[in-house]
Amino acid sequence: MADQDGQKIAKNYEVGVAFASQGSFYVKGANNLDWGMKKHLSNIFDPKSGNTVMFAFDHGYFMGSTAGLERLDLVIPKLMPGVDCLMGTRGALRTCVPAENRKAIALRVSSGSSMLNEDLSHEIISVDVEDAIRMNADCMAVQTFIGADGQLSSIDNLSRTINAGLRYSIPTLGVVAVGKNMERTDRFFKLATRIVSEMGCQIIKTYFCDNFEQIVAACPVPIVVAGGKKLPESEALTLAYRSMQGGARGLDMGRNIFQSEHSAQMVQAIRKIVHEGFTDKEAWQFFQEAIQ
Ligand code: R5P
Repeated sequence: MADQDGQKIAKNYEVGVAFASQGSFYVKGANNLDWGMKKHLSNIFDPKSGNTVMFAFDHGYFMGSTAGLERLDLVIPKLMPGVDCLMGTRGALRTCVPAENRKAIALRVSSGSSMLNEDLSHEIISVDVEDAIRMNADCMAVQTFIGADGQLSSIDNLSRTINAGLRYSIPTLGVVAVGKNMERTDRFFKLATRIVSEMGCQIIKTYFCDNFEQIVAACPVPIVVAGGKKLPESEALTLAYRSMQGGARGLDMGRNIFQSEHSAQMVQAIRKIVHEGFTDKEAWQFFQEAIQ
């Protein structure tokens, strides 16, 4: 472990310089992966735009029945047409998502805490890779708690999942968790995203923050941005736009979609930003017209 005294501050991110190891495959950091991994990644990231609209509805794994997700069986089919990738637990996917759907699947494989716990950072791997294979999952999502009490076990969970994913060519989505006592600064997200990417995952989910473009530049795999708590729709669209402008390759929103009174129109407005280059103002106008 390197001596940490007198550490220089990282600053040379060369934000305007393109990723140098891109090769011929369009997903960042994936050029040296095998065909199976690339196939899964191309199910998630649209080959034309290179981006993805993920829809997160895995909240029940620790929050129970969440406002807007009371009836997974009704909500998911309604929103499915507007999304590229469905992110949920195997319980929700198997029971409430029609098997004949053509969407990519991000399968949550870690769990272990609930809203009743003060510290949410202690999880286990609750889904075997064999079940991820049976479900034809395009990636396996693991929560990581950098700087929290459960850091070591979450890195163990992440590493086991990446190792299993590499055996069977299934990408791993490392989810950077934030908690009550955890920072939400660019300093924290730079640390966390880089640690998680160097563990070997193929996709990272994190939050938007100041200097986001530096986080993207220093991360050798694609980043998708989490939505967080419900915002007014215009602000959520600005968050989506700023994330994409900062170099994200997609959004993985939950509450800002399913808690909107006009959730189907909201997902279509996000789609305009992610795939068609709309600005936040253009997407807001689209949304307002769509709800008339
Ligand atoms: C990450 O912690 C989980 O995937 C959450 O369920 C998801 O990120 C929540 O999405 P949102 O914050 O956009 O509601």
